[in-house]
Amino acid sequence: MGKIFAVINHKGGVGKTTTTANLAAGLALNNKKILIIDFDPQSNLSQSFGISKAEITIYDAIIGKQELKAYKINDNLFLTASRGNLANAFIELIDKTDNHLLLKKIIEPHKKKIDFIFIDCPPSLGLLTLNALNCADEVLIPIQPHYLAVKGLSKILNTVRKIAKSSNKNIKINGVVFTFYNNKIILQKEVEEIVNSFFKEKVYNSKIRESISLAEAPKFGKDIFSYKKNSIGAQDYGNLALEFISKNCNS
Ligand SMILES: Nc1ncnc2c1ncn2[C@@H]1O[C@H](COP(=O)(O)OP(=O)(O)O)[C@@H](O)[C@H]1O
Ligand SMILES: [Mg+2]
Repeated sequence: MGKIFAVINHKGGVGKTTTTANLAAGLALNNKKILIIDFDPQSNLSQSFGISKAEITIYDAIIGKQELKAYKINDNLFLTASRGNLANAFIELIDKTDNHLLLKKIIEPHKKKIDFIFIDCPPSLGLLTLNALNCADEVLIPIQPHYLAVKGLSKILNTVRKIAKSSNKNIKINGVVFTFYNNKIILQKEVEEIVNSFFKEKVYNSKIRESISLAEAPKFGKDIFSYKKNSIGAQDYGNLALEFISKNCNS
């Protein structure tokens, strides 16, 4: 049975999409079957794999026009794309009483065929992210080691706690991944210590360093392993994928 992860942080530009794309690609290289869902109307995840103006999107599934479909990136990696119209989906469905559970209904039937499903969330804690949190088993939080990012964490935790008390009682925090990491910067070390003391073993040891190749890869529609397999970014996401497997796979 597969597990669903919501990749969340209400701040933009912290590496949610980059982590979804490259952790997924790293897991796929390790023979895990992965589905990634672009749940951001900005469709950066889709564009990262060279898909723009997708014809089949998560929007079609949300509004009930079509069942969930995905583009095949490789034998192990599948992507459900998004377009700008995703922003309107919930306005169109405003009168539905269960509109916070729509994504759950669509995704759950696919859990048995897939090892891990990652939902790349938009930079807000609105109805889209709420839908992701209601169908996720676990939450993965990429953060930049900046002081203000730590303050933002409490907002994320409060939201997850509220969901855990109401509509998704089993949701758990899977972990925190540091992105844009540079351990030579003292302030970052201080922030890292604060986060470590709070989240303890939930902080992934594999840190994602700042690396130009990670920023370049989406331009070519490629994940970091297909773009530059010897880059720092490929090393870091490769290590993260292995650590993820050791923490989240039973066998
Ligand atoms: N470790 C990194 N090093 C350098 N650039 C990065 C790194 N991670 C992400 N980026 C770049 O920073 C920008 C924001 O990252 P992104 O993953 O889109 O953030 P989010 O999804 O949280 O908004 C993108 O242009 C991305 O290519
Ligand atoms: Mg994004």
